[in-house]
Amino acid sequence: MTITQRLHQVSWNDVTEALWRCGHGRLGTVLTKPEAEQLRTLYTEGGSFRSRIDMARYRFGRGEYQYFAYPLPKIVDELRRELYPRLVQPARDWMAALSLDISYPDNLDDFLAQCHESGQVRPTPLLLRYAAGDFNCLHQDLYGDIVFPFQVVFCLSRPQEEFTGGELLLVEQQPRAQSIGQVIRLEQGEAVVITTRYRPAKGSRGYYRTNFRHGVSPVETGERYTMGIIFHDAT
Ligand SMILES: [Fe+2]
Repeated sequence: MTITQRLHQVSWNDVTEALWRCGHGRLGTVLTKPEAEQLRTLYTEGGSFRSRIDMARYRFGRGEYQYFAYPLPKIVDELRRELYPRLVQPARDWMAALSLDISYPDNLDDFLAQCHESGQVRPTPLLLRYAAGDFNCLHQDLYGDIVFPFQVVFCLSRPQEEFTGGELLLVEQQPRAQSIGQVIRLEQGEAVVITTRYRPAKGSRGYYRTNFRHGVSPVETGERYTMGIIFHDAT
């Protein structure tokens, strides 16, 4: 099955409903085992990256990640291009509910052209590698004024067999209330859409914003690879 066919099988209504309800929606298994393993091999062999970040150096956590360079590897480009149009209408509805006046074009190329005009020209899809003891502090992936409200995380390693610990964390900060924490465990090849920044929560007088950050709990054993697809480019 092609990526297009696999994405066609995802129940996008359920994903959208989950995003509105809790800020993330699972896509199920999107990558095959060979695809997941091929992607993570790029980390050390033959991948083309624009920069490598040592998280400890910036106090972002511990471990490292690399941003892909343009042109993106074929499968990464295909996923980014195919996921965008499936998320664009939910993104428009989402921003309208948040009272944020941003328009998103129908396809990724036009959206990236907007980013590039605003000086956001560097690609943001990335591969992350965590060894035992590594973690990622709670953060948001914002790289300029232009923000797409969703991003997609893919797990490239087998939990329990190849690593333990290392769960994806989402923390929702509610206004005038304590924060809610969610733990997301993904199997190899599985993907989840998460909100980049906010969630429109329904109140008695319309919607209000909650603020989300995501991170990764410390890996206890083994090595864990993930891929992040972020749609807006970076300054
Ligand atoms: Fe992130």
